[in-house]
Amino acid sequence: MLEHPLMQVEVLSGAAEADLEVLGLPDGESVPAGIAEVPGAGDVKTAFKKATLLRPSDSERLLVIGLGDRNELTAERLRVAAAAAFRQAQALDATSIAWALPESSDHVELPVAVAAIVEGTILASYRFDRFHTSDADDAPKPAAVERLVLVASEGTDTDALAAEARFARAAAEGTNRARELQDLPANILNPTYLADRARQISVAFEPVTVDVIDRAGMEEAGMGGLVAVSQGTAAEPALITLSYSGGAEGQAPLGLVGKAVTFDSGGISIKPSAKMEEMKFDMSGGAAVLEAVATIAELGLPLNVVAAIPSTENMPSGTATRPGDIITQLNGKTVEVNNTDAEGRLILADALTYCVREMGAERVVDLATLTGAVLVALGSTYTALISNDDEWASAVGAAGERTGELVWRLPLHEEYKELTKGRFADLTNASVKRKAGTIYAGSFLEEFVDSKPWVHLDIAGTAWDTGRDYVGNGATGVGVRLLTSLARELSG
Ligand code: BES
Ligand code: MN
Ligand code: ZN
Repeated sequence: MLEHPLMQVEVLSGAAEADLEVLGLPDGESVPAGIAEVPGAGDVKTAFKKATLLRPSDSERLLVIGLGDRNELTAERLRVAAAAAFRQAQALDATSIAWALPESSDHVELPVAVAAIVEGTILASYRFDRFHTSDADDAPKPAAVERLVLVASEGTDTDALAAEARFARAAAEGTNRARELQDLPANILNPTYLADRARQISVAFEPVTVDVIDRAGMEEAGMGGLVAVSQGTAAEPALITLSYSGGAEGQAPLGLVGKAVTFDSGGISIKPSAKMEEMKFDMSGGAAVLEAVATIAELGLPLNVVAAIPSTENMPSGTATRPGDIITQLNGKTVEVNNTDAEGRLILADALTYCVREMGAERVVDLATLTGAVLVALGSTYTALISNDDEWASAVGAAGERTGELVWRLPLHEEYKELTKGRFADLTNASVKRKAGTIYAGSFLEEFVDSKPWVHLDIAGTAWDTGRDYVGNGATGVGVRLLTSLARELSG
């Protein structure tokens, strides 16, 4: 069902043949001796992201990409440089790229550079054009880059680098699959489609099992949040659960939860029409969790993971939940639904309870496009992190630091809890005081994790439209690489 073509990735030492060779050059430095004689080599631009094309011979094309200040080189700069190189490769119709790896430095170690270049290239290669019929499209599609070779200097031991490349490739391809799920419109990608994708993952990877709870199952189990949000739509909702057993039997699993509202109209508390089409992206957390599990399974990481993805549409109708309705969540707490557009927390609440109580998660991370307020607070640069556990929060933060999916922690405090208290029920899902919207939502979720170490990531600002060079202004697949890196670290 997913259509993205895959890129072959290799690490070699010495030299490699390719349609386009790429050399990253720190600011102010000159090209290496072998190239200095090539016409134009003296005019090479070295400012960050600047590209200069040289023709060392009739058959060779060498792209020099500025890396910026040598002492400020980071993995993120390499991701961006790799994306810039990829775009040049496309403009030149190159189908293979050979990237000369920079020297290992205090700033960026060689394995980190390998991962960054692989990620930047593969993420930049994503496109979603399946609905452009060829007749309507005059411009021919550019040739796909099929092969990326990372070239280390003569005599380098490439084994560890190849392992790094394999990891980065899997995580970046997983990210692109999540982006495809994000981009698919809500008339195609509904909860059933996501459940089918989960089943496909369990068919592909033996250690993954899937179970899908439908509307009747939700009612029977007492998942009042999922029932309330889904009762206004004809689309069958799904609590999609996956379990990956790559670790020792009985080893406590990592729990992942991802919001998958396949379209959020707001329900009876309907949203304004401007930009409402963006609410097909309200399943981004679920997509990230789904494809992270697939990536972890593909890599065969030695740990156990359980995942719960609550999925539904949020629609207004004669059967929809009304503002003021009181529901009972899976853990028994009652909630006054004062705003049907604050639906994510209601379905996540049940999924968190399910993940901890029924699936045995000892530590949990949830990802959700939960609040517009996070865009006001952090824009598209940082994902907001809210947690009840310092150690777990820093483990997740460190994973984001490694992958460039930056997180910024926001506090919890008793005073915020006051806001979540209901007038007619234990809790309310939206307070009349429009204060600290992102923390409010996190504070609400905390009521459903049975005090287990938990991290909530509000990705409403980072799931699309970030303008990062290697993902542009579309879907980002944020979270797939972070979760995969976290799982790798936990498998230790
Ligand atoms: N899915 C939205 C959050 C969102 C808004 C994500 C804009 C991305 C961009 C969420 O379900 C929502 O509607 N939240 C409300 C909560 C409010 C009613 C308390 C919000 O943020 O406005
Ligand atoms: Mn909403
Ligand atoms: Zn929503």
